[in-house]
Amino acid sequence: MFYTSPMFFEWEKEHLLRDQWHCVGRVDELPEVGDYLTTVILDEPVLVVRSAAGPVALSNVCRHRGMPIATGQGSARRFVCSYHAWTYGLDGALLRAPRMENAGSIPPGAPCHGSGCATGTGSCMSASALRPRWNWAGCTT
Ligand code: FES
Repeated sequence: MFYTSPMFFEWEKEHLLRDQWHCVGRVDELPEVGDYLTTVILDEPVLVVRSAAGPVALSNVCRHRGMPIATGQGSARRFVCSYHAWTYGLDGALLRAPRMENAGSIPPGAPCHGSGCATGTGSCMSASALRPRWNWAGCTT
């Protein structure tokens, strides 16, 4: 499918496509816990990682100031943002926010937004990672 009207495409992205399921990767690309890949779906950066509970799709956006928390494809035990070293677990939970411990605005475990993946067809299918609800530093969910 392609669009000849950018305006129509933008409208459909916002009102139709973002709430649909999209293939964000294949299950066999993530055989081991910690294996991950990154992609962009509908202009949203997505991190797909095999957590201990199975594949999850996360918004690949640091909750502090919006840097990507991973690039490319590989294997990791955790994700450390390259900007100020906020650290996230494989399930997207915020594990550490250096110099913010006393700020009082970060609930313990405040996660990257995302969801588990539906994997029945061998593909990781995700929808909610495409509608991130993060905001700067204040982790209201
Ligand atoms: S932008 Fe990620 S830690 Fe600051």
